[in-house]
Amino acid sequence: MRSQLLLKSREFEEKEEKNIAANQRPTVHLSPRIGWMNDPNGFSYYNGKYHLFYQYNPYDTNWGPMHWGHSISDDMINWEYLPTALAPDEKYDHLGCFSGSAIELQDGRQLLMYTGVAKENSGDMASGEVQTQCLAVGDGVNYEKWSGNPVLNQMNLPAGASKVDFRDPKIWQESDGTYHCVVANRMEDGNGQLLLFSSENGFDWNYNETLIRNTNSMGRMWECPDYFRLDGKSVIITSPQDMMAQELEYPNGNGTLCFIGMTDEERGFLEESNQSIDYGIDFYAPQTTLTPDGRRVMIGWMQNWDTCSVRIEDTKWYGQMSIPRELSIQNNKLIQRPVKEFDALRKNTILKKNIVFSGRKTFTDISGRVLDMEIDIEPENTGYEMFEVRFAENQKFHSSITIRPKESTVEIDRNYSGVRRAGLHNRKCRINNMNGKIQLRIILDRYSMEVFVNGGEQVMSMAIYTDQSADGISFISDGKVKVNLTKSDL
Ligand code: FRU
Repeated sequence: MRSQLLLKSREFEEKEEKNIAANQRPTVHLSPRIGWMNDPNGFSYYNGKYHLFYQYNPYDTNWGPMHWGHSISDDMINWEYLPTALAPDEKYDHLGCFSGSAIELQDGRQLLMYTGVAKENSGDMASGEVQTQCLAVGDGVNYEKWSGNPVLNQMNLPAGASKVDFRDPKIWQESDGTYHCVVANRMEDGNGQLLLFSSENGFDWNYNETLIRNTNSMGRMWECPDYFRLDGKSVIITSPQDMMAQELEYPNGNGTLCFIGMTDEERGFLEESNQSIDYGIDFYAPQTTLTPDGRRVMIGWMQNWDTCSVRIEDTKWYGQMSIPRELSIQNNKLIQRPVKEFDALRKNTILKKNIVFSGRKTFTDISGRVLDMEIDIEPENTGYEMFEVRFAENQKFHSSITIRPKESTVEIDRNYSGVRRAGLHNRKCRINNMNGKIQLRIILDRYSMEVFVNGGEQVMSMAIYTDQSADGISFISDGKVKVNLTKSDL
C-alpha cells in the first residue's frame, strides 16, 4: 500500500524536476531531484546497482518533513533518480524519516533501517518527540514499512540513554550472517555515544554494548555513525555537533570525526588516533559502503548546517553530495581518493610538464568549471612562501587554494566567490610539508571544489555558487616554482 504522502511526493518530484535544467545542477555530484537534500542514506550495492538514498524535502529548498529520496548508479557518479522511497506517513515517523542505511537480506530483498521521529503520545497530553529505529523492506524501488516497527525504542536503551536523541542506524552483516548496527545517542550529560545492537534475522534487535562515548572533548551530540574494518584497523566515523575549535585539526560547529584503533574481544574499541575527515567548509554526515570488489567507499553531504545560507537564490534545489571517495588507512591516518570510476570520466586531457615560473601564470587551454586537475609543485632555487591556485575566476570573482610551506598549511577561500552572506568563507588545515613539494588534485564542479592534498592525506571541500561565466584558472607564486600539471574535463 502506497500512502497518499508517498504518492504526493512521487507525483510532485516527477512534475517539478522538469523545472531544473540539466546545466543548472552539479555535473558529477548528486543533487536532489527537487527541493532539499541533506545526509546520504542507504548507500549500498543491491541487484547490480549502487543505491544512494538521501534526506529529502521535495517541497522546499529548506529542511522540512523528511522523506528519503532515491537514486541508482553503475559507477557511483552518474545517478538516475528513482521515485521517493520513504515518506513520513506512519504514526511512529510522522515527524520525519531520518537518516539510516540499507542492506540486502538473505532472501534477496533490500532492507532499509531508518530513524522514525514522532510525538511520544498521540493523545491530547502534551508530549515530547522521540526517535526510534524502523525498517522498510523492498525490491529496490518500492518499500513496505515493517509491521513490527519500531524495532528499537526506549525499551532497548541502556540506563541514561536519551530517547529523544537516538538516531541514524548504520547496518552491516558479519560473515556469520548476523546483522549489526551502530546508532547515535545522547547521554544524560549531553555528550554523544554510539550504541551497538545486533539481530539474527534483521528484524528482531537487541542492545549489545556502547562502542564509544564522547568525553566532553569532541562537541556534544554525535550524529550519523559508521563502524567498519579497514586495512587491519577498526574505524569509527561520526559527525559531532557543537564542536569547539582545536588548533587546525577540528574547526567549530558541525564537524566530522574519525577514530582509528583496534577492537579487543573484551575491552571493545581501543582508540589509537583521531582526526577530522574533511578539513573544508562543506562536508557532513558521511556514510560508507563496501563495493563488490571490496573497496570501502564514502560519500558525504557536501554542505554543512552552519553554512546553509550560502546558496543560489531562485533555484529549485539545495544540497549536493561529495564525490565517492575510496578509503584506506596508512600510519593510522585516513586516506581518501576519488574512486577509480572517476578516471573514466576524464576527457580532453592536457599535460604541462616542468613549467618554471614566479608571479602569476595562466594557460590559454587551462580553464573551466567542471574538471579534474592534478598539480605537482616543487620549489626552485630559494623556493616560495606562498603558492595559490585561483579558480572560478574573472575580473570580479575568484576562489582559491593557497599553500604556505613555512606554516605547513593549505587554505581554501571563497570570500570572493560572489557570496552575499557574512560567515565562514575560508579554512586552513595542517599538511605534511615536504619542503614545499606538494601535490594537489582538484575536482571542480559547477557548484563546488574538492581538493585532495598529497594523495588524499587531507581533503577540503567547499560549495561555491559563483556565476558559471567565471571560469578562469590562474597560478600565483611569490617565488620560483616548478609545476607539473594535468587537467581533464569531466
Ligand atoms: C544529520 C542529521 C541526522 C538526522 C538528519 C535529519 O545531518 O541531523 O542526525 O537523522 O540529519 O534530517
